[in-house]
Amino acid sequence: MRRFLSLLSVFLFLWKPSARGAVDLALESKVDAALAKLSLEEKIALLHGAGTMELFRETSLIPGVSANDGPQGVRAGAFTAFPSAIAMAATWDVPLLEKIGQALGEETLASGAKMLLGPAINLMRTPLGGRTYEYMGEDPRLAGRMAAAYIRGLQSTGASSCLKHFALNNQESWRDSVSVEIGERALREVYLESFRIAIEEGKPWAVMNAYNRIRGEWCTANAHLNRDILYGVFGFDGANVSDWGAWHDDKKAIEGGCTIEMPSSGDLERDRKIAARVRAGEISEKLVTEAVRRNLRLAFRVKGSKGAANTPEHQALARRLSVESIVLLKNAGSALPLDATKVRRVAVIGPNAAAEHTIISGTMLQKGGSGAVRPPYEITPLQGLAKALGEQRIDYAPGYVFAPPTGVAPADFKNGPAAIEAAVAAAKSAEIAIVFAGTNHSIDHEALKLHDPDVDKKDLELPGPQGELIRRVAAVNPRTIVVLINGAPVRMEDWQDKVGAIVEAWYPGMEGGNAIAEVLLGAADPGGRLPVTFGKNLTDWRVHQLGAEVFPGTGKGGDEKYDDGIWVGYRWFDHAGTEPRYPFGFGLSYTKFEFSNFAVAASKDGWTAKATVKNIGSRAGSEVVQLYTGPADKLADAPVRELKAFQKLHLKPGMSQAVTFTLSPRDFAHWSEKTGDWRTPAGRYRIEIATSSRDVKFQMVGDVRKERSWR
Ligand code: BGC
Repeated sequence: MRRFLSLLSVFLFLWKPSARGAVDLALESKVDAALAKLSLEEKIALLHGAGTMELFRETSLIPGVSANDGPQGVRAGAFTAFPSAIAMAATWDVPLLEKIGQALGEETLASGAKMLLGPAINLMRTPLGGRTYEYMGEDPRLAGRMAAAYIRGLQSTGASSCLKHFALNNQESWRDSVSVEIGERALREVYLESFRIAIEEGKPWAVMNAYNRIRGEWCTANAHLNRDILYGVFGFDGANVSDWGAWHDDKKAIEGGCTIEMPSSGDLERDRKIAARVRAGEISEKLVTEAVRRNLRLAFRVKGSKGAANTPEHQALARRLSVESIVLLKNAGSALPLDATKVRRVAVIGPNAAAEHTIISGTMLQKGGSGAVRPPYEITPLQGLAKALGEQRIDYAPGYVFAPPTGVAPADFKNGPAAIEAAVAAAKSAEIAIVFAGTNHSIDHEALKLHDPDVDKKDLELPGPQGELIRRVAAVNPRTIVVLINGAPVRMEDWQDKVGAIVEAWYPGMEGGNAIAEVLLGAADPGGRLPVTFGKNLTDWRVHQLGAEVFPGTGKGGDEKYDDGIWVGYRWFDHAGTEPRYPFGFGLSYTKFEFSNFAVAASKDGWTAKATVKNIGSRAGSEVVQLYTGPADKLADAPVRELKAFQKLHLKPGMSQAVTFTLSPRDFAHWSEKTGDWRTPAGRYRIEIATSSRDVKFQMVGDVRKERSWR
């Protein structure tokens, strides 16, 4: 301990804030040259798009740039459907996400677009949020680092990312009118922190301003959000694209720091009127030029190479991503993996076994909204299992129906009881019953019309008669396995103790069925860890303890009080001492790991924490080593622990690997409402190496002797 104390002091003494990224002089001179040739009217025409998805039309001065929607694949046309973004976060695999980003960049270029509208990293404030599946979980560090890897990979191809939705678009009900009334601490420390990390580590060329208002002002007109923080603190130098239809007022948006209105078909008359307001001094010409400068940086940064779509490599990556995202939540008596050489008969139950979540018939909006992808094929779990085991060993019984095909059926109770009986009979005569439960995109989707009061989920329950079906199946077959196909936590209290194994597979993309079969049959280790806390009941989440004023807000255009503050996700569960069903960061492996050699040491540019992990089981597998920090003694106003670093290890049996994390004093800081900056007060702090927010392997306490602050 004494050694630790002195090392930390040394570290604080040596640390200096890092310098801002260097200016790209060649780019700036290109931008300057173009700016010098543009008339005021031509500049103003660059403050809005040139079509539904077209940002800039090509001229002799400016390359054309159009966008295609993400984040889990390219929307318009037939493209590779990767698992949804929450699954990407569940991999905790930074190098893999960089590869996914690169594949997405190639697909974007192949579509003819030069920008993909993703990644999206609004944090999961409530598990009911309609777009939780499109986002990267509840923790700023995890979401920020995963998004940064995605952005780096994507932009390495020459295509641009567009990091969205900046900021606080944390629900879909009333998303285009709600005003988020939030304190500065929760804003900085939780909701903007994911963006800070993604921007600093990923350097996106574009950001998307969200639909909602913050403290009464639209994000697109919010100078505090865009000018003070995004540009001033985060150092973002790219374009700030309005979400589609989120630009409301030319003067306010230009002053607020949004740089391009989307969508737009261009309106010469309007451009002239804005120019007249500029000449009259009503709108600042300096701000117009600054916005155009940002847009030109984007236009000159993108490169138009040819790209590639639907390649076997991309499809293999989609499969690998799914394997690495699948979280094994429960495995009583080693119910999994199944031994393919021994199993004679498997009952496969539930409509989600045969449902296609990407290429279902119906419109794009019925498939979840702008994130929908339409791949050339999709392997369902039923097809994946049939391929791996042979059709003759599988007995499929849906158990209930999703009706219409794109909707969730409340059970059709004319045919419902018969369907459940058929599934129970199939389960009874099989050695193993696998129930594919969950949701679909008629439930998990974005707002599909303006001022929609009713988009987010109503509750945490599995829709329809799924709970009853699982209980009935488990009652006749002790080897019942539940596989969840969904985009957010669901309530499991009525059945989780009755089944042998529970697997969270998310929306697994076009290769999902193959990936699920690999994991269930043990060809691969379940690689995922939870990027969100699974509570037992909805009221376990702080936001759901505080009434309609706090969520979903009190109606059209109404204020929504973020009285839940910084208490998002595991930060609240730990603070309140609420036992989650499954904690943040949690996931089982088919093998076993041993942790050793924990050490903390000062280094030139910071402080390092080390641990060694060894695979002591007989199969290859992966472990995610997680580093958390927190105050040594519980405080009323600080989280018990917060994720600060992580690394995923892939280890063969008998293999061990050392991990090293670096920390800076900034990693202990919190936003001070009083002084308006980040502070690490003098005091005692814990550093923990863990495998989830509730499974700490090692802990050390050290003393910070001198208070530090940052902007
Ligand atoms: C969504 C964005 C999307 C845009 C363009 C909006 O409704 O919020 O995420 O990129 O549409 O399709």
